[in-house]
Amino acid sequence: MSLGIIGGTGLTELNGLAVEKEKTLKTPFGAPSAPFVIGKFRGEKVIFLARHGRPHKIPPHMINYRANMWGMKKLGATRILSVMAVGGITKKMKPMRIVIPDQIIDYTYARKHTFFAKNLKEVTHIDFSHPYTPALRNDLIREAKKKKIKVVKTGTYGCTQGPRLESGAEILRMQSDGCDVVGMTGMPEAALAHELNLDYAGMAIVANWAAGKTDSEITMEDIHYYLAEGMKSAMLILSGFIRSE
Ligand code: HPA
Repeated sequence: MSLGIIGGTGLTELNGLAVEKEKTLKTPFGAPSAPFVIGKFRGEKVIFLARHGRPHKIPPHMINYRANMWGMKKLGATRILSVMAVGGITKKMKPMRIVIPDQIIDYTYARKHTFFAKNLKEVTHIDFSHPYTPALRNDLIREAKKKKIKVVKTGTYGCTQGPRLESGAEILRMQSDGCDVVGMTGMPEAALAHELNLDYAGMAIVANWAAGKTDSEITMEDIHYYLAEGMKSAMLILSGFIRSE
């Protein structure tokens, strides 16, 4: 019953993790983003992976999502918590806010997005009605409440291809599709977790208003600033969440 944590931009290392070992895995799908860091966080076994590599340099469309998820499963993870930076589209999704998404829309293309492609006994379609595991989401929400940290309890995550940010019109289209936040790494990660029968939930930290939502240019400096601020609350939720596993 190990917990896997995949850290996105702003979370390349898990502070407080008493590292026991690092594992560099080869997988049938190639190399994962980085060595898996295995250790104890407040007494609980945790497997941590830096999604963009260490150092942080693999862009979202180049991440080997299959190797990452396969590696987590191989090392014994049964539940995955994904921490990710997003842009805010709808009103509540202000910079620094934390969102526990309950739905996802995939706008990515040309990513290796499934384990069910070759050597199949039969064609397999997974149920993806609930991309994020409700029980895991509830655990996060409960922990946030305990810590008195305001989180947005539901939201639709729209996953774009990147690495460029979106045009204003793309964001308007995503909004009319029902997206609340926009990021670049939620897919195919969520679907691959389901294909491997892993519980999966996300904690999204709003780093900026999405394109066209303010008059100002979106800069990496602003993104890093708001992300670092939001990450402080995310870490508080995370530490309690791990302990209550
Ligand atoms: N768009 C896509 N991904 C992001 C954004 C954004 O505005 N901010 C952080 N990740």
